[in-house]
Amino acid sequence: MKFGVCYYPEHWPESRWAVDARMMREAGLEIVRIAEFAWAKMEPADGQFDWGWLDQAIDTLAAAGLQIILGTPTAAPPAWLTRTHLDILRWEKDGRSRNHGTRRHTCPNSPTYHDFSRRLVTAMVERYGGRTAAVRDGRIIGWQIDNEFGGGHTGRCYCDNCAAAFRRWLQDRYGSIDALNEAWGTIFWSQTYTDWAQINPPRDDIDKANPSHELDYFRFSSDSIVAYQQMQLDIIRPQASGQFVTHNFMGLYLDLNQFDLAAPLDFVTWDAYYTGFPERWGPLLLPPGEAPAAYAYDVGDPLILGMAHDLMRGLKQRPFWVMEQQAGHINWSSVNAGVRRGTPRLWCWHALAAGAETIVFFRWRATLFAHEQYHSGLLRHDGSPDVGWHDLHRMQVERALLDHIAAEPLQAPVALLFDYDDLWALQIQPHRRDFHCLRHLFVYYRALQQMGIMVDLVSGQADLSAYRLVIAPTAHTATAERAAHLQQYVEQGGTLLLGVRSGFKTASNLVTDQPLPGTLRDLAGVKVLDWQVLPDGIGWDLATAVPHLTGPATYWVENLEPETAYVLARYESGMAALTENWVGNGRVLYLGFYPTAAQAGALLTHLAHQIGLKPLPPLPAGLLAYRRGHDTVLLNFTDEPLTAVVDGRSVVVNGRDISVHSTG
Ligand code: GAL
Repeated sequence: MKFGVCYYPEHWPESRWAVDARMMREAGLEIVRIAEFAWAKMEPADGQFDWGWLDQAIDTLAAAGLQIILGTPTAAPPAWLTRTHLDILRWEKDGRSRNHGTRRHTCPNSPTYHDFSRRLVTAMVERYGGRTAAVRDGRIIGWQIDNEFGGGHTGRCYCDNCAAAFRRWLQDRYGSIDALNEAWGTIFWSQTYTDWAQINPPRDDIDKANPSHELDYFRFSSDSIVAYQQMQLDIIRPQASGQFVTHNFMGLYLDLNQFDLAAPLDFVTWDAYYTGFPERWGPLLLPPGEAPAAYAYDVGDPLILGMAHDLMRGLKQRPFWVMEQQAGHINWSSVNAGVRRGTPRLWCWHALAAGAETIVFFRWRATLFAHEQYHSGLLRHDGSPDVGWHDLHRMQVERALLDHIAAEPLQAPVALLFDYDDLWALQIQPHRRDFHCLRHLFVYYRALQQMGIMVDLVSGQADLSAYRLVIAPTAHTATAERAAHLQQYVEQGGTLLLGVRSGFKTASNLVTDQPLPGTLRDLAGVKVLDWQVLPDGIGWDLATAVPHLTGPATYWVENLEPETAYVLARYESGMAALTENWVGNGRVLYLGFYPTAAQAGALLTHLAHQIGLKPLPPLPAGLLAYRRGHDTVLLNFTDEPLTAVVDGRSVVVNGRDISVHSTG
C-alpha cells in the first residue's frame, strides 16, 4: 500500500516547496495530489494560461521522488469568469443564484461552463498528459476530475439552463409528450402537458411536486453531473496513456448516483472524515432516539464510516483509494473534536482493512488563510509535526504488516443492495416519518458488522454471482429487468432476503397495479395482502422457530399470503410474517416487517449458519472485525480494552488500537 498527501503549492512561497517535498519523502509519503482548486492561478485572465508555477511545483515534487496526481480545478471557477457569465452560476430550488466566493457555485448544464472547462482541461492535459509526463520522469501518475461533485449540497441546480436540458432529457426518455403524461400520471390535478416547453424543474411548487416529475429530476440532475464528468473524461483519456483517471467521492452522499459516476473511471477514491460524517449521516442512519454507541470521543463512528467504505468498494466491486484522509481535527462540524495520537492510525488501518489500496492525507500543512484556517494537516500552521504526522511515522514502522494485509484477498460474502431509484422514491414519499432507505440498510449493516461478516454495498445491476447472501431491504422500484436479475442470482444458488415495500413502484414512480410485491411476487412466492404503518408504541407479537427472532413487529408491517413459499414466522393474528421460497438452486426470504437491529441480527445469524458464513460470536460495541484471506483485522474504537473470540480463542484489543489475528 502507499501513502500520499494533498498539497497546495500555490498557498506557500516557492522557496518552501523543496523543503516540503523533502519532508514528505522523509515521512514516507510517495504520492501528492495538487492543483484541484487552482483555476485562477492557471488561467489568471480569460484565455491566458500560466503554467510556469505548476511546471516548477511538479518538477520540485518529482525531483524529491513523489508521484503526482493532478486535479482539474473546475470546482472553483475564477471571478473573471463567474462575474461576466452569470449563466454559470447554479440556482437553488427557490430561484436564488449562488455567488462567487467559495466553490461549486456552478451549473453542470451551463454551456458556458462547459466551454470554459473544456478549454482549460484541454490545455492542462496537453501540457501534463501521458505523452509529456514521460518528459517529467513519468511522475504524473493520474488525474482527479473536479472535486467532490455535489459537495456542499450542490448536487441539483434549478436554473434555466437546467430547465432546457431537462426537457431534452425527458424527450429522450419518453419520446412523446403523451408518453410522459402517461408515465407521470399528469391527469391528476390537471397537470397534463401539451408541449415540452411547459415543463420546468420542480421548483417553487405550492404542494410537493408530482413524485414522478421529482424522481425524474433527481435522475436528470445526477445524469447532468455524470455527463459533465464525461466531457472532461473524453478530453483526458486520449492524452493520458499510462495515467489513471478518478474522482474523489463522498461516501454516503445521496444526491448523485455514485454508481453511474464511478462506472467510466479507473477506480474510486473518496474523502473520509471520521469526526464530521456522524453528524451528517448519523441522524439518517440511527433509529430515532437512539444514541450512537460510546466510542472514544475523537474517533467518529466506525459503523457509519465503515458503511461508507463498503459502499465505495461496492461502486466498482473492487478496492478503492482514500483521496482525503482526515489527519487531525476538521473545521466543518459543530464541535470539531480534537484528535489524539493513535486515532489517525486507527482510521488508516480501518480503511486498509476495508479495501483501501492507497491513503492520501488531507492536507500537508494547516493553511494560514481563508475558509480552512482551523483545519489541521499533517503539519501545524508553523510547519511542525502534528498528530497525523506522528501516526504516519508509526505506520512506517509497521509497514510490513500493512502491506501484508493490503495484499490479502478481499471478497465480501454478503451484498446489500443500494439503489438510488429506491432511495429517491422513498425520500420523496417516505409515508412514515423516518422511513429512509439508508436507515433500513443500516439495520442489516450493523447486524452483519457485529458478526464480523464483510458486506459490499452494490447496485441492483451489479454482478451478484460471488455473494452467498444478497439483502434487498426494500427493492422498491422493481422493474421486470430487476426482478429477472435477482431471479437469475437465486436460481444459480443464491440466498436473497427481500423486505417490506418491495416491488411497489414502476420505473416512473407510479404504483404497480399488480398484487404486491409486484414483479417480485413469483420469485418470492408470496402475495402481500395488505400493509400498514404501526404508530410508535404499537407492535404485533411473533411466533417463529427462527432462534431469538422475537416480537413485536413494529413500525411497518405487511400481512403475507404464501403462494409457493413456506412460512417461517407468523404474527399473533396467524398471518404470515416471514416466508421462504425455493427457486432453482437458491431461495428467497420475504420479511414482512421492518426489523429492529436485534431482529435483523437474529435472522441473519440464522441464515449465516445455514449457508456457512461462520459468524463470529457477537462483537462488543466499538470492536470491528474485517476478514482478509487468513487474517482477521480487529479494530477497537473505544478507549477501553475489548475482547473478541476468533477461531475459538479470546483476543484482547487495546483501546484505539488494532490487532491482527492469523489462522495461518
Ligand atoms: C473536503 C474537500 C477538501 C477540504 C476538506 C476539508 O470535503 O474536498 O477540499 O475542503 O473537505 O475537510
